[in-house]
Amino acid sequence: MPDTPPPTGTARGAVFIATSLDGFIARPDGGLDWLEDANANGQQGEEDFGYAAFMATVDGLVMGRHSFDKVLSFGAWPYGRLPVFVLSRNPLPLPPGLPDSIMALGSQLADPVELMAWLGQRGHRRLYIDGGDTIRRFLAAGCIDTLTLTRIPLLLGQGIPLFGPTPQDIPLTHQETRSYANGFVQSTYRSLPRP
Ligand SMILES: NC(=O)c1ccc[n+]([C@@H]2O[C@H](COP(=O)([O-])OP(=O)(O)OC[C@H]3O[C@@H](n4cnc5c(N)ncnc54)[C@H](OP(=O)(O)O)[C@@H]3O)[C@@H](O)[C@H]2O)c1
Repeated sequence: MPDTPPPTGTARGAVFIATSLDGFIARPDGGLDWLEDANANGQQGEEDFGYAAFMATVDGLVMGRHSFDKVLSFGAWPYGRLPVFVLSRNPLPLPPGLPDSIMALGSQLADPVELMAWLGQRGHRRLYIDGGDTIRRFLAAGCIDTLTLTRIPLLLGQGIPLFGPTPQDIPLTHQETRSYANGFVQSTYRSLPRP
């Protein structure tokens, strides 16, 4: 499937995520305190580590249910009226008070290639793909064009990993690496055609 050119008009994915130096995106219980602390300590003036510029390039967000639950725990919904598609194989009742730009998608669109084709038909072109499990599935399916990883100078030792086993090698090309004064190192990679 990844070797097949995407259907005309299909949407493509982009990843923008922070990891510990040893590759975890959250503690084993999903905790992000380490990232919040690092962001708070590293905030110099208005520095947002490229987040706003990245968000300006996407027209929607696809996230796994675990990430959605985490975002809900923050209280205020942070994505305004950006279309957000939440993946879950289980019924996902949306709490009241959320914007109607959030859509829960069940198993009928479990295949990332089909989902991105469907999103393309709805006019989407570039979606932020978020959540470890979700990112791995979209990478494996060849649906990610760019991957921006911000490495936080901290070893967590254990946690929820960003990467894991892949069905085949996933070749990437390095586009840019930027280091920040607080020790964050941000690298952007682009996907290459699969062998
Ligand atoms: N460090 C960072 O920058 C960062 C960014 C984002 C998230 N996080 C953290 O990462 C953690 C979440 O990552 P995660 O790897 O646990 O999970 P995730 O990708 O957020 O969510 C996984 C869940 O999404 C659903 N799902 C994924 N693909 C699907 C598909 N194709 N079809 C149907 N459902 C699908 C399934 O839900 P069901 O089990 O309901 O079927 C699956 O269990 C959270 O703790 C979050 O805070 C960190």
